[in-house]
Amino acid sequence: MDEHFYFKQLTSGRDFAVDNGFAHQMVNHSYCIGDTETRQALLVDPAYDVHSILSVLQNDGMDLVGVILTHYHADHAGGNIAGHEIAGAAQLLELVDVPIHVQQDEVEYLGHAAGLTPDQLKPHQSGSTVKAGKFEIDLIHTPGHTPGSQCLLVEEHLLSGDTLFLHGCGRTDLPGGDPTELYYSLTQRLADVPDTAILFPGHHYSADFSSSMEYTRHNNSVFRPRSAEEWLAAFAS
Ligand SMILES: [Fe+2]
Repeated sequence: MDEHFYFKQLTSGRDFAVDNGFAHQMVNHSYCIGDTETRQALLVDPAYDVHSILSVLQNDGMDLVGVILTHYHADHAGGNIAGHEIAGAAQLLELVDVPIHVQQDEVEYLGHAAGLTPDQLKPHQSGSTVKAGKFEIDLIHTPGHTPGSQCLLVEEHLLSGDTLFLHGCGRTDLPGGDPTELYYSLTQRLADVPDTAILFPGHHYSADFSSSMEYTRHNNSVFRPRSAEEWLAAFAS
């Protein structure tokens, strides 16, 4: 890996929002991606405690140049879950003025759920890239968990949000969820991600914090069905 690649996986209730019982229960991951040469960095899914997450970058001497949201759900983007108010990108924008990179199909949902207006968002199509210094982050549109869910691929790190976990995948019964789309996201839209890439999901739901895509493709039951029909019979929720 390039010596200047900067990458941190943070866990809610442990690395930030440590006194927040709901954040601890949700075990969300936020990520820092950057270039130690240019000191430019991005945050992925900063939520619950945006001050603490921002201070991780500041303590490392990194400058925030943007935010990427994997999808609109409040535990990733900010908003409300069952009465729990969660800070997110909207609160971060009160501290810093940076672009919020999202998939085009998520813009409307982010407005309703996370209080982010279209002028605060930088919409992308699948295949576009965002730069952290010299490192290009590929944005892969992976609908299914939500219409505009996206996975990020940079330096053989796959950040999958709630599209794919080490075991299992995101649910499809929330607004905008579509199990057929999720099947095609997992089996086709992510098919070009190499086996050597390391999967970094949006929640810490397994004992390990990450695993190779080779291991995941062999051991995660969502890759076992051989057809869309089989997959939907097993996983459509
Ligand atoms: Fe989600």
